[in-house]
Amino acid sequence: MFILVLLTGALGLAAFSWASIAFFSLYLAPRRSSLYNLQGPDHTNYFTGNFLDILSARTGEEHAKYREKYGSTLRFAGIAGAPVLNSTDPKVFNHVMKEAYDYPKPGMAARVLRIATGDGVVTAEGEAHKRHRRIMIPSLSAQAVKSMVPIFLEKGMELVDKMMEDAAEKDMAVGESAGEKKATRLEIEGVDVKDWVGRATLDVMALAGFDYKSDSLQNKTNELYVAFVGLTDGFAPTLDSFKAIMWDFIPYFRTMKRRHEIPLTQGLAVSRRVGIELMEQKKQAVLGSASDQAVDKKDVQGRDILSLLVRANIAANLPESQKLSDEEVLAQISNLLFAGYETSSTVLTWMFHRLSEDKAVQDKLREEICQIDTDMPTLDELNALPYLEAFVKESLRLDPPSPYANRECLKDEDFIPLAEPVIGRDGSIINEVRITKGTMVMLPLFNINRSKFIYGEDAEEFRPERWLEDVTDSLNSIEAPYGHQASFISGPRACFGWRFAVAEMKAFLFVTLRRVQFEPIISHPEYEHITLIISRPRIVGREKEGYQMRLQVKPVE
Ligand code: HEM
Repeated sequence: MFILVLLTGALGLAAFSWASIAFFSLYLAPRRSSLYNLQGPDHTNYFTGNFLDILSARTGEEHAKYREKYGSTLRFAGIAGAPVLNSTDPKVFNHVMKEAYDYPKPGMAARVLRIATGDGVVTAEGEAHKRHRRIMIPSLSAQAVKSMVPIFLEKGMELVDKMMEDAAEKDMAVGESAGEKKATRLEIEGVDVKDWVGRATLDVMALAGFDYKSDSLQNKTNELYVAFVGLTDGFAPTLDSFKAIMWDFIPYFRTMKRRHEIPLTQGLAVSRRVGIELMEQKKQAVLGSASDQAVDKKDVQGRDILSLLVRANIAANLPESQKLSDEEVLAQISNLLFAGYETSSTVLTWMFHRLSEDKAVQDKLREEICQIDTDMPTLDELNALPYLEAFVKESLRLDPPSPYANRECLKDEDFIPLAEPVIGRDGSIINEVRITKGTMVMLPLFNINRSKFIYGEDAEEFRPERWLEDVTDSLNSIEAPYGHQASFISGPRACFGWRFAVAEMKAFLFVTLRRVQFEPIISHPEYEHITLIISRPRIVGREKEGYQMRLQVKPVE
């Protein structure tokens, strides 16, 4: 009885607090600042606001509707109705990215990421983050990436071999199609290029990152490959909106073992064990080659990212306070795998799709690439191909793998200027938005990259040629490390693997297009972008089959 009364009391108190928060967020607070004067959709759920609509729709679909109706800067309802600032305005993007330390990832997102990737650069904040970046950035410099290009090219060649083997096995007639012509399995099923490319980029990351042969292109049961599939499959459902929120707010939920967490836990255990082995190898390489304790930069052999990182971390002239601990070095391994493998593979997958949809673009790109008369070009030679550069920029713009950046304002008060003024609820013109501490900001990178305000009326069109034309003022309005777009974000937290990613994608396109051509399968399915952290392709109408990209892969005629 006592427990029942206690439970009822606790539930009553929780309900009262909940109602007060919701009442405050939805009705009282709106009068207090210009954030509340922004237009936006009504909440569709008292608990999850509009989040469920956004997460369950195609990537960027809800944001596109909001933008159409309310303008480029708006607010929607977040958890318990708390307003979330949402904007495709370039000035809002630049401001939030530049002030990255005042706009960290929200606590929940950081906690979930930390579980999957450890406490590395991806989740570190403030001074710790500066320390991580200072040590890591040289290992992904332009010079370091140049030396990795042979790895990208060789892995790309292996990828082509595997896709062609798969295609050859399927190139046999299986029945009548349209009553007269026999169709082959290749024409009907195609090759799942998403799967092959994912394995190739994981192998690249392991080789170039740690000099580790994961060999997942040859062997699907490789433990690192299995671990990472488990990690991403297990990780995704933890973000499954409602459960993740409960998991974050109520500690009891964190103690519950869910079906999906088993591969997640196993994946983490394997990536940790492999990481420890790798780190120990690199440290022994240092000790083996150094004559005394004061290790010099040149003492560590190896050109992979981890060797360069260990070298930077033990350099004699680095103050102790600036060094990374063993645990932090270990976390960078899973951070790099996490940040660098599925991002590049997803963009490449969409690239092959774009090529299959537009024969003229495919032919033009192949023609340019075939002008190079070596199988092993340098990065400078690849960078000298203008259409290849334009194609990479355009693909990254329209198919960014990380489509949303979520942040939380830590300043007591901040004023964010707008490039595209919007009309407020009270009819006034808003040029600047005032936000306060704790306000969530969601920047839909996917939609920023498709903004007509920045890219012109044909922003939704795939047109690589736009990058060969003069750079307009509106393109310049986006501050970014690469390609006048939001895909790598910008500022102190910008992706510093972008040189690696761009070089890897160019090398893969180079080797692939010289040998094969891509065509849609005969059913010519429609693909949609679906996001759980990464925006992956799925066939409309065949959702249960999961993420895939099925194309015909044929030898170049
Ligand atoms: C096309 C490929 C890629 C894209 C579009 C991409 C995009 C991004 C984005 C948007 C972020 C910021 C996420 C956030 O803070 O919300 C990020 C961070 C990061 N990326 Fe990439 N990335 C790509 C490939 C890579 C590769 C290949 C590497 C490593 C070799 C890498 C390493 C990192 C790291 C270490 C961070 C964390 C940076 C920090 O917080 O200071 N990325 N990336």
